[in-house]
Amino acid sequence: MIRGTILGTGSYLPKFRLTNAELEKLVDTSDEWIATRTGIRVRHISGPGEETSKIAAQAARQALAMAGISPEELSQIIVGTITPEMTMPSCACLVQKEIGAVNGYAFDLSAACSGFLYALDIADKQVRANPDSKILVIGAETLSSRVNWQDRNTCVLFGDGAGAAVVGSARGERGILAGKLFSDGRLWDLLHMNAAPSQNPFLGGEDGGGVDPSRLGTPRKDSGSYIRMVGREVFKNAVRAMEDAVAQVLREAGVSASDIDLVVPHQANIRILQSLGERLGISQEKIYINIHKYGNTSAATIPIALDDANREGMLHRGDMVLLCAFGGGFTWGAELIRW
Ligand code: ACO
Repeated sequence: MIRGTILGTGSYLPKFRLTNAELEKLVDTSDEWIATRTGIRVRHISGPGEETSKIAAQAARQALAMAGISPEELSQIIVGTITPEMTMPSCACLVQKEIGAVNGYAFDLSAACSGFLYALDIADKQVRANPDSKILVIGAETLSSRVNWQDRNTCVLFGDGAGAAVVGSARGERGILAGKLFSDGRLWDLLHMNAAPSQNPFLGGEDGGGVDPSRLGTPRKDSGSYIRMVGREVFKNAVRAMEDAVAQVLREAGVSASDIDLVVPHQANIRILQSLGERLGISQEKIYINIHKYGNTSAATIPIALDDANREGMLHRGDMVLLCAFGGGFTWGAELIRW
């Protein structure tokens, strides 16, 4: 049987590190509150030359080097991101230019914190259909640009970073055994970020009027393009949804929770991961956690964690590795890999 498999991983974290102590100077918070409620101690913030596509390309170069694949061999680049530096072209096209992947095609995928998982699932299906494909899957975010640094409810949670994986085909037992993706747009407002202001100037206005050409050029009120979140509701939904997705994936693969060697989950809150472990009957030592170093980097958390675990020698051939994520949309899912 042919399946998608991860041939190499890479990651990049911006140089500047923002500690909880520094956040105490910005908003009414404390290192103790942030660490106990979330597990976060430090996050990285992008500086000049560290735009989303640039950090994505850095992660990509590492993943390609580990996989022993040249950029010219790539058939596709998929970037999961909600913070591309441009609406057009896509972040993926900019990465393609940066690394010189001249023979493939590239596109972005918007699924918030589940972006990498969605992209990985697509790559797996592509590789099953075309086993010669080599697909670069990236999760990259510069959330610092979209965080309200006056809002203590959100600004302590997020960070910037990028992670990447090269997906190719494997025969036999290795590779992605099962994957399940979900979304529920009905709950969109519990976790959302408006698009950067852009509106048809012919439409509407303060008075709700119709089409009016004289409004062309009238300054618009910024409706707030920051991340907004009803944290407690998101927390409850995240635990329930990931538990369900994992149960479905295990059932599909005919694998039990006790067979899992390592869970590499989306890193949003250490308490979500503890709760998830308890519900699934998976011990905490088997759940990879690096949120203390990076915070929530949305689509980038899983590939960064995967790369950290890989470089720390925690992933061995034949290991059963479980990925799961939950994010804005809501979007969520799980993928089971035999490494
Ligand atoms: N410092 C100090 N106090 C704070 C801070 C802070 N940084 N933030 C909030 N508080 C206060 C609140 O104002 C509130 O005070 P009040 O009781 O006087 O009103 C109190 O702390 C408790 O607030 P809650 O929001 O109820 O705190 P909770 O225990 O739920 O923790 C948190 C908040 C960390 C946000 C948690 O709900 C969470 O992690 N939610 C899920 C996040 C998540 O999974 N996101 C998904 C992915 S993100 C994406 O897709 C981009």
